[in-house]
Amino acid sequence: ETVEGQVSAGALSPVQRGFHEMLGSQCGFCTPGMIMASEGLLRHNPTPSEDDIRQALGGNICRCTGYVKIIEAVKFAAAEMAELGKGAVA
Ligand code: FES
Repeated sequence: ETVEGQVSAGALSPVQRGFHEMLGSQCGFCTPGMIMASEGLLRHNPTPSEDDIRQALGGNICRCTGYVKIIEAVKFAAAEMAELGKGAVA
């Protein structure tokens, strides 16, 4: 899977939308990896704590955002996925 494959019928995925809405991307260099790591986290843990998010994204380095907006983006996506009824993968 790639970040491009997260788009469905021309619509951004909840994680992509979270990064857009919460300003989780600045230069964008780290963004594909952040989005894919976030997607993987939310598929297995749809209600992650901030520590869970930090742990899941720990292998990705961002030199721009200071991570706060990225964490907010993942929380946004988790809330949106809960609203849409997209739960964890069995
Ligand atoms: Fe620039 Fe993360 S947005 S490295």
